[in-house]
Amino acid sequence: GAEDASYLVSLIRSIPGFPKEGIIFRDFMPVLADAKGLHLMMQALEAALPVPAEDFDAVAGLEARGFLFGPALAAHLGKGFIAVRKAGKLPPQTIRESYDLEYGSESVEIEAEAVKPGERVLIVDDLIATGGTAAAGAELIERAGGKVVGFSFVMGLDGLNGTAKLGGRPTSVLVTMPA
Ligand code: PRP
Ligand code: MG
Repeated sequence: GAEDASYLVSLIRSIPGFPKEGIIFRDFMPVLADAKGLHLMMQALEAALPVPAEDFDAVAGLEARGFLFGPALAAHLGKGFIAVRKAGKLPPQTIRESYDLEYGSESVEIEAEAVKPGERVLIVDDLIATGGTAAAGAELIERAGGKVVGFSFVMGLDGLNGTAKLGGRPTSVLVTMPA
């Protein structure tokens, strides 16, 4: 309910000026550290799923912060977990995709075999800002033969229009905050 939502929001830490002047760093780590917070986050993500749980086979998480709760959510939902890694960490054969971040640029990779043919995948991450990271993750999953059916984010930043990069796929954001 509303009380649970405000409890979750109260655990999110905001650090102005990190990692750069003008950026407010939104930190969900205190949610993970709190037993009740983590439990509520799993329940809230499940309740807000952008598509019914029976409409996907696996959860894919984006390194690094998508790795901190993606496998927990996958287990909570009875699904497998696919890791979308930052470039340079995996042995060949990999598929790579580059994108621009809110600050800087980055590349992500998956192993070519990481996705089963036709596998339906929900992508998760802690935060959507410009949407570049999630869009690159989706591109990788689909180049590997999967189908991205939707996205779940814990936090979203207002005014950056990040979801516009997600190809109109169903998306859920638990908490929206000023950029
Ligand atoms: C952060 C955040 C998202 C991404 C959102 O990751 O965890 O993955 O930025 O930004 P975007 O929507 O503009 O792409 P970052 O790569 O900074 O760090 P991490 O490795 O700690 O997840
Ligand atoms: Mg990240």
